[in-house]
Amino acid sequence: MRTAVSRFDPVMSRVVVTGATGFIGQHLVEHLLERGDQVTCLVRRSSPWDRRRSPQLRVCHGDLADRDSLRAAVADAEIVYHLAALVRALDYETMLDTNAGGTRNLASVCAEMSRPPTLLLVSSLAAAGPTTNGRAVDEQDPARPVSNYGRSKRAAELAAAAFADRLPVTIVRPPIVFGPGDRDLWQMFRSISRTHVHPVAGYRRSRFSLIDVRDLVAALVVAAERGTRVGPDDDLRDAFASGCYYFAQQERPTYEELGRRVAAAMDCRVLPIVVPAALAWSLASASDLAGRLRGQASLVNFDKLREATAGGWTCSTARAERELGFEPPNGLDQRLRETAQWYRQAGWL
Ligand SMILES: NC(=O)c1ccc[n+]([C@@H]2O[C@H](COP(=O)([O-])OP(=O)(O)OC[C@H]3O[C@@H](n4cnc5c(N)ncnc54)[C@H](OP(=O)(O)O)[C@@H]3O)[C@@H](O)[C@H]2O)c1
Repeated sequence: MRTAVSRFDPVMSRVVVTGATGFIGQHLVEHLLERGDQVTCLVRRSSPWDRRRSPQLRVCHGDLADRDSLRAAVADAEIVYHLAALVRALDYETMLDTNAGGTRNLASVCAEMSRPPTLLLVSSLAAAGPTTNGRAVDEQDPARPVSNYGRSKRAAELAAAAFADRLPVTIVRPPIVFGPGDRDLWQMFRSISRTHVHPVAGYRRSRFSLIDVRDLVAALVVAAERGTRVGPDDDLRDAFASGCYYFAQQERPTYEELGRRVAAAMDCRVLPIVVPAALAWSLASASDLAGRLRGQASLVNFDKLREATAGGWTCSTARAERELGFEPPNGLDQRLRETAQWYRQAGWL
């Protein structure tokens, strides 16, 4: 099997992971422990730590809003992998506070250190915005986020870039991330396995980039260790001339094709059904309202539909290939099949 990044040998490091209890964070921690890194995880007290114990692993309780806890977590670190974020929230202010304010807090405590660590910020393709004129976006394109989530992730990038004169900063903008433990694309797996129907709203012909979480975490480590850094003046510009990377599978299916591939991964048939845009917006607004009544943001909401209907979401991996030796793993179908198998074994399907 090809690996996401193959050119370099691992270098052991003292690292910190924020967002270690999340979908991508859990995979990253496992990957770092396997490499032999000394890993400190920043974990909120409200999030019980039920992962394996290891002499290489330290759990530090804290919150992005609490600078003292961040200072204690990053002391002595060589690399800080910053994944903690809100991917959905009831209001933009909460999202902005955590994603941009939290990044600013973290970057500022890193900058205070006598030997500042490398800050690897996991941003999102949503910060860059959708594909324009069918061309996959690259790091030189001006950022044009279309959702509150995308705007908050872009603000996080600028918050980190503001410290680029005091610490090494590298930004990674993943597209859709899937794989074992993911609850977002799992909705599609579950709905297709139960109903054999794949509802497609206004985004029928739009193409999407994706990456398997195991390929992404391997690539994050190489970006942190070997990537270029954001330039000190990059926060003044719209695009990053250096220090920013996209990692994605080679294939860029349409939303309709993705449904067929997910069905094939589960060995079942599927019928794509076009949902009129008005109906999709009504469902999203009902789901939004239900979320507000529950006091918890829903998986399907206005902000997500805003992204889904904005056009394609594809990114170019040319810079990562050229500078980091990234080999886009071309096994989307294989990765989807492995993911389906994991869902079955975990009893999610
Ligand atoms: N999943 C994707 O498809 C995707 C695509 C592109 C980019 N990304 C980015 O990748 C990163 C990780 O995403 P994910 O899917 O793994 O998200 P996730 O499963 O929702 O995990 C989010 C993590 O952030 C932590 N967190 C939230 N607010 C915090 C705070 N105030 N202080 C400390 N920790 C806090 C959560 O801790 P608790 O356990 O305490 O809640 C959790 O560990 C995010 O930055 C996201 O924007 C994700």
